[in-house]
Amino acid sequence: MSVRAIVMAAGKGTRMKSARPKVLHELCGRPMLWYVLRALRDANVVEIVVVVNEELRPHVAGIAAGAAGEAAVRVVLQEPQLGTGHAVQIALGQIEAHPGTLLVLNGDMPLVDAELISRVIHARESALALVTARMPLPSSFGRIVREGPYVRKIVEERDADEGERALDEMNAGLYAFDEEKLRDSIAHLRNDNVQGEYYLTDTVALLVAAGERIVPVPAADYASVLGVNDRAELARAATSMNALLCAQHMRAGVTIVDPATTYLEPDVTIAPDAVIRPNTTIQGRSVIGGQSEIGPNARIVGSRIGRHAVVTESVIVESSIGDFATVGPFAHVRGGAQIGTGVKVGNFVEIKSSQLAAGVKAGHLSYLGDATIGERTNIGAGTITCNYDGHVKHRTYIGADAFVGSNSSLVAPLSIGDRALTGAGSVVVRDVAPQERVVGNPAKAIKKET
Ligand code: UD1
Ligand code: CA
Repeated sequence: MSVRAIVMAAGKGTRMKSARPKVLHELCGRPMLWYVLRALRDANVVEIVVVVNEELRPHVAGIAAGAAGEAAVRVVLQEPQLGTGHAVQIALGQIEAHPGTLLVLNGDMPLVDAELISRVIHARESALALVTARMPLPSSFGRIVREGPYVRKIVEERDADEGERALDEMNAGLYAFDEEKLRDSIAHLRNDNVQGEYYLTDTVALLVAAGERIVPVPAADYASVLGVNDRAELARAATSMNALLCAQHMRAGVTIVDPATTYLEPDVTIAPDAVIRPNTTIQGRSVIGGQSEIGPNARIVGSRIGRHAVVTESVIVESSIGDFATVGPFAHVRGGAQIGTGVKVGNFVEIKSSQLAAGVKAGHLSYLGDATIGERTNIGAGTITCNYDGHVKHRTYIGADAFVGSNSSLVAPLSIGDRALTGAGSVVVRDVAPQERVVGNPAKAIKKET
């Protein structure tokens, strides 16, 4: 069964008090709309129409490319925004009529999941099935007024009388319509309500008047259908989303010491038996290897960490850390740096766009930028690659088994051979041959001791 969906995302989102369209606000590193599109894709929805305003329009294709997979996503402009019913009217006017199920949902429900979407699709008997949720009061959600097992009408909170406001079954904003019947009823919507809007929810009473039975589909947990209307709700949704991501990884064998202070994003991959310690953020398409230990107080962005690696109180951005390597505390590795197997990067070391081969040690207080360092070389405390001459960046090459003395300044472009040595405090401005020893400022060769 090929199902189509309309995502309503054109609302001004005034309660966010933001210059940015509401559904672009992010939780766990992705815009709200991203999650909605991904859930639709996971529910095998093949065609998605997103109703947008002018500000949102240019952003949808980019979000869809990451989230919607094979599903075809198009946008329909709703300007001005006269309510959810109006949004669907506009969308229907721009897509070819199609018999069968048409899913309609709010764009501001990022926690919606594919299982619930599939459930409402399959629950539809004739004109409409819609998701409901029991929720603590007070609530700004539309109230479900039942008639036996079916829904008689939905009353928006602002239009509800006292009795209706006391109802605790809410309209989630996720509907499976029979498209033909939706087209018939939506033409009759009126805007004689408190907000002066055309409410999609009024189609329920219209369909009931036409003799239809509207099937409620209760959500197991109202958290999954919470609408995000303001910043406080955004924060709550982010907390829920993060808890879901942490739970997924824990189920798959990852130890997360404190999920409440571990911040993950949906594209993060963590192998079983990795340990994530408190106050750690892992972002982007990061991959964490098995048996590695990350944190406490680590931030990993778009990086690959090997197996049995340890990253403590450090920041790793767009870089890779080899198996058995240790990083931190207080290191910053960035700019495509590649840290090899068993490397030790210690306290207050910054590494940018550099390759450190297996077994390199840079234990303390260094800046290594645009450098290539051979196996087992020791970088003494306080070593700096002076990679920038005020105009351009230059590279530093250091061979294998070299010994760079404490507080060496390596003025690039520069090449230091295998097994070479620089003395403490050297300012190295000329290439150093393999096995050569240099000291001083500017560094000069000293006789090799025998
Ligand atoms: C809506 C429902 C309410 C439900 C709640 C669930 C209506 C009338 N009410 O209320 O019953 O309990 O969602 O979260 O539908 N939008 C447009 N164009 C518009 C207006 C809104 O595309 O002209 C979009 C918004 O961007 C949003 C969605 O529709 O994504 C819902 O609109 P919103 O204003 O947030 O409705 P609620 O008051 O939350
Ligand atoms: Ca809403």
